[in-house]
Amino acid sequence: MSDSILSVLNEERTFPPVHSTDANIDGMAAYQALCDRFTADFEGTWGELAREHLAWAHPFSRVLDESNAPFYRWFDDGMLNVSANCLDRHVEAGLGERFAIIWEGEDGEVRRISYRALLADVCRAANGLRALGVERGDRVVIYMPMIPEAAVAMLACSRIGATHSVVFGAFAAQALRDRLIDTGAKVVITADGGWRKGEVHALKPKVDEALKGEGVAVNKVVVVTHCNHPVDWVEGRDLDWYIMLEGQRESCPPEPLPAEHPLFILYTSGSTGKPKGIVHSTGGYLLWARLTMLWSFDFHPGRDLFWCTADIGWITGHTYSVYGPLACGGTTMMYEGVPTYPDPGRMWRICAHHKVSIFYTAPTAIRALIKAGDEWPARHNLSSLRVLGTVGEPINPEAWIWYHEVIGGGRCPIVDTWWQTETGGHMISPLPFATTLKPGSASKPLPGISAQVLDVDGNAVRDGGGLLALTRPWPSMLRGIWGDDRRYVDTYWHRFGGHYYFAGDGARIDSDGDFWIMGRVDDVLNVSGHRLGTMEIESALVSHPAVAEAAVVGRPDEVKGEAIFAFVVLKQAGGADLKDALRDHVAEEIGPIAKPDEIRFAHGLPKTRSGKIMRRLLRDIAAGNTIHQDVSTLEDAAVVEALHKDAC
Ligand code: PRX
Repeated sequence: MSDSILSVLNEERTFPPVHSTDANIDGMAAYQALCDRFTADFEGTWGELAREHLAWAHPFSRVLDESNAPFYRWFDDGMLNVSANCLDRHVEAGLGERFAIIWEGEDGEVRRISYRALLADVCRAANGLRALGVERGDRVVIYMPMIPEAAVAMLACSRIGATHSVVFGAFAAQALRDRLIDTGAKVVITADGGWRKGEVHALKPKVDEALKGEGVAVNKVVVVTHCNHPVDWVEGRDLDWYIMLEGQRESCPPEPLPAEHPLFILYTSGSTGKPKGIVHSTGGYLLWARLTMLWSFDFHPGRDLFWCTADIGWITGHTYSVYGPLACGGTTMMYEGVPTYPDPGRMWRICAHHKVSIFYTAPTAIRALIKAGDEWPARHNLSSLRVLGTVGEPINPEAWIWYHEVIGGGRCPIVDTWWQTETGGHMISPLPFATTLKPGSASKPLPGISAQVLDVDGNAVRDGGGLLALTRPWPSMLRGIWGDDRRYVDTYWHRFGGHYYFAGDGARIDSDGDFWIMGRVDDVLNVSGHRLGTMEIESALVSHPAVAEAAVVGRPDEVKGEAIFAFVVLKQAGGADLKDALRDHVAEEIGPIAKPDEIRFAHGLPKTRSGKIMRRLLRDIAAGNTIHQDVSTLEDAAVVEALHKDAC
């Protein structure tokens, strides 16, 4: 268990809620009243909220269809359009001049895009995509830096009913290729590159590489020129984004889509096999994106400037940089570059300059900024901040307290939001102006969400530890794994006999009913708030000609949460150069995020007699812990001693 988790276990400090006169949920009584509404009439309450918060092109008559569980359907005979909900209805309500997006480039350039202008761009892009032959139901892959055109591309897809799949720009060509094949995408939208630490991080060459060979259905590549970086051009296939937009009409009627229409597919790592394409819906997803903005962040559109620092390549970027804030008609801040460039004060300078009022980031970023020193935030006026959020991994109480005091000036509530790619939006989170905060606890399930800590037999645990489960369906739940219904059922529903959603996290519930998330219980690493399957990294390592076998585990890391530790058995002896080559190889196969922090060469891996690698043992060795475990089931006990040092 990592040090930060141990310190969470001993945490006893509490922070009573700050009072706010106009909070969306202004106290525990209001929270309880909402929960009671759901208890009294679960479907009726969801139905009322869906009618109140979304604009429907055709009303729904059914709220939840459980007849083919766990393939749940929400509002399924209703029709709506996501881009119309995020744009048109705000312009029609007279908010056309309000900023939808405030974007800052790494070089300091600022673009402020009004709802009216964003709608016009989205319409032109939607018309442009249609002209390329993109139709409702087609998949479009978006592989872009954090620039407004990425949001335009997502919304344009939603306008015409194309399902988008955003691939994180730092993923390698091979990872992109796998996703292109799995989605069967017809079109890729990319850029020449993006700025990272003052340099161009080229994207287009990776697209060219990913499209080589058979198996990819892409026939058009649309390229945004962002860095003026020279790119190779394939005539007939490649098209400039601005040329695609040129001459297109600034209106494009939004296509009414069934509420269950797949809005997007987003890939996430699992413990086995290739990454899973998580499918999200149109109606249920958008409803929860909007409600959680209002509830967990106390978002007040028109007054707040909301900044979620996540890249759009992750679910956090989908729900809280784009769809959530825009569904509310509010203003979202987007920043292109590295948070510590050109100095560790960059984030705070952006907050102060643009007057960010709600700031949402990952514990990894907070820990890195703590290390950089308090003098950086001290140089900036952070008085515009009123709510702070964290996501992606457990936050250790020390980092929480720093965030609260140094960034929030002791006055901003911190919402530690627990959720996953699969859940679409927050599930367990404090309410900023209602909850008594406990550093390290994600507090209680949001209204409408049923979460429990269960023992291995599926019985509810009170005041203790176990497995985290969601015990009733919710509108923004994943609708499946793209092209793999079986894996969907096996991964999430099998564990508790088909009744409950198994999150894959361990958690503790305390005597107040507050949840403390303890981290993954499967072979998934959480590196800087990003999920990586150990298997994916192992497969990348063994695809190198020098490697015979590999086992990857997590090692507690002060900043990143978990560092990647790889035990590698070579075909022939190798040295330090080979370690570098293996790291580069993994970066090429998956992306730099998956590079092992440490590689240890071994003569053999500890295996049970049935051939299973003993990962717990490897985790202890990686962490430098003394081995107390029973090694009697090992095939070859001598192997363990040798693993404490390098075999080369
Ligand atoms: O282990 C939990 C951790 O991140 C996992 C989900 O990762 P991903 O799908 O990439 O989505 C990250 C952003 C939503 C979870 O299974 N996690 C997420 N939020 C928290 C967390 N662990 C502890 N505390 C959190 N607030």
